[in-house]
Amino acid sequence: MSLVVFPFKNEDPEILVGNVKTALSHPRVEEVLCVGASEDQCFAAVAEACPTLERQYGKPVKVIVQERIGALRPGKGDGMNTALKYFLEETSYERLHFYDADIVSFSQEWISKAEEGADQGFDVVRHYFPRASTDAMITWFVTRTGFALLWPKSSLPWIEQPLGGELLLTRPVVKRLLEEEKVRRQSDWGIDTLYTFTMVKHGFSLYETYIGVGKLHKLYGALTDLRTMLVECFAAIQSLRGEEIPSFGIHRVEYPGPVSQEVREKVGYNVEGSLPLLTEGWSREEESLLEVLPPDVRAGMQACRSFPRFGFMDEEAWYATYQALLDHFQFDNPHWQRLLFRLWLARTLNYTVNQALRGYGHALHYLHQMVGRYVRSALQG
Ligand code: DGY
Repeated sequence: MSLVVFPFKNEDPEILVGNVKTALSHPRVEEVLCVGASEDQCFAAVAEACPTLERQYGKPVKVIVQERIGALRPGKGDGMNTALKYFLEETSYERLHFYDADIVSFSQEWISKAEEGADQGFDVVRHYFPRASTDAMITWFVTRTGFALLWPKSSLPWIEQPLGGELLLTRPVVKRLLEEEKVRRQSDWGIDTLYTFTMVKHGFSLYETYIGVGKLHKLYGALTDLRTMLVECFAAIQSLRGEEIPSFGIHRVEYPGPVSQEVREKVGYNVEGSLPLLTEGWSREEESLLEVLPPDVRAGMQACRSFPRFGFMDEEAWYATYQALLDHFQFDNPHWQRLLFRLWLARTLNYTVNQALRGYGHALHYLHQMVGRYVRSALQG
């Protein structure tokens, strides 16, 4: 029997309560827990709905505020870790499901498919779904790239959506995650990276289930919206460098289905609005950090100070840049944070213009092949 958890922060309460009802009506679900970042309006609305929902469905429904568990910015990591603690300390269920609170296409299928994977004996089931070719730019250029460079023999680079917030964990996995000091510490956006890494490190078997309808959440404006997430996700990878993990763990991926026209046509971010971010607001300190980058990248970024340039940031240039970042990036230095953002933006724009423009099928094929090429380069040293 299972616990379903929705971590949330300022979400639309109508969508969240609707998703709670969907979860409660699933026969495998014994209880639903909502973990709020704070006592915001959404929290109040959900708290008010709980007693009625409990009567209606005859199952416990709770809403709690996340505990301060970690050491970094208090964010999603504290929320998810609070849920792990609750699951272990307050319940004896076998499985815990996480779902983002803002999924407008949530249905019983999400829960059933995860349960089916766990019924087959997998320790972890992760949901994956089609995303626009210019969405998931942190996933591709930071997380999957980093996994390929650092752990090319493991299953990590091949996990479709390593930052996904929709997953099922069996009890031994929850226990292991919470025992890891690094997981407890990661209170920010880096939590998904830490969970993914830790489950592979401990050899848990992994199934990725495909949800064709996808998440249908809103996409981003200029890429500044993603700055904090980018920095925290990169720093999470960097903090794991040097850790050894097993090669070739058990990892199965359900074959995907056809992708809707809506996802194929969606533009993931505002390209025009993102261009000035390459050029604006360079400080002397930031300029001096260019020193440690490969010469072509350094020259390209220097040129950006007067005009947006990104033609230089191709696949090879990003590989070399990423290696330099792993060695030199300093999380607590705001100049480094700004430079990391600009470098990633140059890579994202380069990919958008040279690959994504050629169409959805080409772009997704390119991204998967790119990970393969990075894995091979990393193995050749
Ligand atoms: C990612 O890259 O996966 C982030 O969710 C932003 O889209």
